[in-house]
Amino acid sequence: MAGRNIYMDNNATTPLHPDVREAMSEVLDIYGNPSSLHWFGRKAKNMIETSRARVADLIGASPDELIFVGSGSEANNTVLSIFACHPKGCDGCRQGRNGIVTTSIEHPCVIETSKCLEIKGTPVKYVKVDRYGKVDMEDLENSIDDGTGLVSVMMANNELGTIQDVKAIARMVHEKGALFHTDAVQAVGKIPVDVRDIDADFLTMSGHKVYGPKGIGALYVKKGVPFCPMIRGGHQEMGRRAGTENTIGIVGMGKAFEMRFIEMESEEKRLMELKTNIIRGIERDIPDVTFNGHPEDCLPGTLNVSFGGAEGESVLLALDLEGISVSTGSACASGSLDPSHVLLATGLDIALAHDSIRISLGRENTEQDVERLMEVLPGIVDRIRSISTAYEKKAL
Ligand SMILES: Cc1ncc(COP(=O)(O)O)c(C=O)c1O
Repeated sequence: MAGRNIYMDNNATTPLHPDVREAMSEVLDIYGNPSSLHWFGRKAKNMIETSRARVADLIGASPDELIFVGSGSEANNTVLSIFACHPKGCDGCRQGRNGIVTTSIEHPCVIETSKCLEIKGTPVKYVKVDRYGKVDMEDLENSIDDGTGLVSVMMANNELGTIQDVKAIARMVHEKGALFHTDAVQAVGKIPVDVRDIDADFLTMSGHKVYGPKGIGALYVKKGVPFCPMIRGGHQEMGRRAGTENTIGIVGMGKAFEMRFIEMESEEKRLMELKTNIIRGIERDIPDVTFNGHPEDCLPGTLNVSFGGAEGESVLLALDLEGISVSTGSACASGSLDPSHVLLATGLDIALAHDSIRISLGRENTEQDVERLMEVLPGIVDRIRSISTAYEKKAL
């Protein structure tokens, strides 16, 4: 193995930004309970409110529309659970409209929650996507009816990088009288996100995808939109999420979002160039390749590719031996032998879905990393194909 380990799995999680690490280490001793009225409590509370303003700034929201939660998964569960209340509704819920419409490529924290709610009686529909993972707008329109309370469509897909036209989707959803939620965990901090421009009712964010800490997320809830807390108890987070706040995590997320405000544009342009170089290298040096995400509407640093006849997991392990870390689909699904539900939903055949890897670049990746990847990847794919009966048959 030559040189340092190269991390190319930034959609799974990211390393802490140095400024985030510094900001968090400065508050390790701020132990006051933010709900306490004394000096110690007020100090912690002030830090939380500064972070809230920073996160709100990045998405064009007002700070009182943001709730800090324990993760992106929790934010998504919270939104969906509003529609799992008693069908007749409660104080915070939408009377009568308790159906959910979502897509077949959402993150497991949306899909699994939807399935669970379905079992408990909530009507759920899953909208189709095209070859690149773009939502089928006709199917979406036909799926929303008078009983639909919420439509939940992710802004950018974690496996493919494909970006949806959430503005057009929100318009359609509102015309049909439902509310719109977007899981923007992979989008915020990588591409411009403005909640007013999108006209989102709910929007999910996570700290650790953009160089902040793990175990902290935020949920945007538009002013005036019905809401029910999922975690009940104390009055923290304006009565919308009980539990003593994770002050250190919140400070870290605030700093990470502040740094994205400053660095996002130039950084993501750089990642796009690195990705383009990888695509060119693959096209030049590896035959029989299928690129899976949308060719244009895609996250700058995300590349999902299938090398027919070379199993993704074998490619991943061989790259790992060379000190390069990539992924086969989402981190939550790795370890499972099932092919990615996202790739299958795009219509990719089951063998090619097994043969895919995801390369996701981040702010620490360099041109040298790309060169190193392209030094070893063609040989690895070739070697795996040479012992694959599936590829031999195809080549004959
Ligand atoms: C699109 C998407 N939504 C939600 C999540 C969950 O976020 P968290 O890890 O903060 O629970 C992830 C994480 O992989 C994701 O990629």
